[in-house]
Amino acid sequence: MPELTEILSSRDIELKISEIASKISEDYKQGNLILVGALKGAFMFIADLARSIKIPSQIGFVGVSSYGSGTESTGKITVTKQLDIDIEGKDVLIVEDIVDTGWTLQFISNYLKSFNPRTLKICSLIDKRERREVDVVVDYACHKVSEGFLVGYGLDHNENYRNLPAIYHLKL
Ligand code: IMP
Ligand code: MG
Repeated sequence: MPELTEILSSRDIELKISEIASKISEDYKQGNLILVGALKGAFMFIADLARSIKIPSQIGFVGVSSYGSGTESTGKITVTKQLDIDIEGKDVLIVEDIVDTGWTLQFISNYLKSFNPRTLKICSLIDKRERREVDVVVDYACHKVSEGFLVGYGLDHNENYRNLPAIYHLKL
């Protein structure tokens, strides 16, 4: 039986999002902010983050897939849903669920750069350090962990657990 251990309660998540949303609201108060959520993992995070950000902003999505059905990145990343909003000349913040090796974010960054945003930064719910292979800068991170496979609050394992309101460590 898979074992779930809670590492962030929904209240913890709420507090961390509120903190980071204040920073983002301050940093982008002069800009044209567009949040671009990476599907599917970031769907819950971007919904709460967007509501907590107190400046005008727009929301778009991009879909990428890299994991297949396991807990290790396959390294082969594909666009499963093209960007659905015009970001040329805008201040874009990529909203991601979790950064692990960094390959996915590097891929999304390069994809979005091809649309010529004015600025491009990264906000991730979880910054997981241990397996980092690509030197991506996570400008805003709600929570840092060193290792483990996490599920809940949008994060999945084989498409399961995304609906859980808290974040858990999954032991298979
Ligand atoms: P990366 O390319 O190795 O950085 O992997 C990033 C993507 O893999 C994230 O967008 C997640 O969708 C997925 N991922 C990485 N670690 C986890 C985890 O602990 N739980 C669930 N998904 C994960
Ligand atoms: Mg993801």
